[in-house]
Amino acid sequence: MTEKMSAEMAERYKDGFIDHLSQTIGGRKEMVVTGAKGCRLDTTEGSYLDMISGIAVSNVGHSHPEVIAAVAAQMEQYAHVNVYGRFVLPPQVEIAERLTRVAPGDLDVAFLTSTGTEANEGALKLARKYTGRPGYVAFEGSFHGRTYGSLSVSWRERYRAPFQPLLEKVTFVPFDDIDAAAAAIDDTVGGVIIEPVQGEAGVRIPSDDFLPALREICSERGALLIADEVQGAMGRSGHWYSCQEWDVTPDIITVAKALGGGLPLGAFISTSEIFSTFLDPPLSHLTTFGGNPVACAAAIAAFDIIERDGLVERAREMGDYLGAGLARLMETHEMLTGARGLGLWWAFDVAPDDLAMPVVKAMERRGVIVGSMLNADGTVRVAPPLIVTTEELDETLRVLDEALTEVEAG
Ligand SMILES: Cc1ncc(COP(=O)(O)O)c(C=O)c1O
Repeated sequence: MTEKMSAEMAERYKDGFIDHLSQTIGGRKEMVVTGAKGCRLDTTEGSYLDMISGIAVSNVGHSHPEVIAAVAAQMEQYAHVNVYGRFVLPPQVEIAERLTRVAPGDLDVAFLTSTGTEANEGALKLARKYTGRPGYVAFEGSFHGRTYGSLSVSWRERYRAPFQPLLEKVTFVPFDDIDAAAAAIDDTVGGVIIEPVQGEAGVRIPSDDFLPALREICSERGALLIADEVQGAMGRSGHWYSCQEWDVTPDIITVAKALGGGLPLGAFISTSEIFSTFLDPPLSHLTTFGGNPVACAAAIAAFDIIERDGLVERAREMGDYLGAGLARLMETHEMLTGARGLGLWWAFDVAPDDLAMPVVKAMERRGVIVGSMLNADGTVRVAPPLIVTTEELDETLRVLDEALTEVEAG
């Protein structure tokens, strides 16, 4: 239920936000969130269609009643107990069984974290420890997170430069360029980290032979292939994991975001053989809150909803519908220069680049939330909950049409 909030209270929170929360982007916020349900987000300024799902988190929609019930039941039972391996926590086992059941190949073990960047940190450490090699290959356009290891393999110079020195032995190669990747993967490289579909670069989809060829090169040269599926997993791409679009089995898959059904949960998934390297020395990788039982309970509920309600397949159907609508708008709006997507993971390009934010704002004024991307300036993301209806997509397309007309008119 959406709470009502007085204008006075809303102003108090807007002031408090500026006064007491660390800012990473300038400017006062205009909206205070009062509730979220399904595909809708309610604020003090009005109700919106949420077409970004908290950035690819709310795949089952906001505040799903079954997720709420699972969280409440787990809180009643226990929220947190000792870590470091002395107890079995059934919710951890349940979610790990599910994640590995739908994973490709022989990936049968999951290490649970709280966030995506932690999952990638773990994967980078695992690759180094298992291969004994210090080097990494990453891709231009990539985004893997903000902690030191993940930042080291994230491409945009603007975000890396202030924090140098980072991990030293990282080579960035152009995305979808197999010759460049082959040239960079030598016997000093232990991990090749890639988003099979690059999210923050604007939902960039490689050509069909790229990922299978990369898999082959990694196997030949003894480097582990790490697929960062933090944004693309849990049905977003029309698969449980986006690498399944190309039938590729990485050595390590990382997930987070939608996994926790709205609560913080991540994982890196690999084989028991690769993970066995973490046994020596014992306790060589740990976290207090990774795999928190309440987050796991939410994740189990979200996973079961996705599976039971066929949301992976639905993402493909609704994605086709959205893509067809975007293609129609491209015929009538010159400034809409491109649109790409896989499943319900879409982005469109506007030209010139600096008109992307005005389009986002014009849509917001009409009640639809879409968003910008970290590594693609003229590109706008559309990644609704997987429960979105054709009526909600029609509304989004109608609003985009109007927003483009407004921005075109200057
Ligand atoms: C592909 C990818 N990897 C990793 C991350 C980092 O995840 P988190 O913000 O949970 O640390 C993100 C976040 O946007 C992401 O899109």
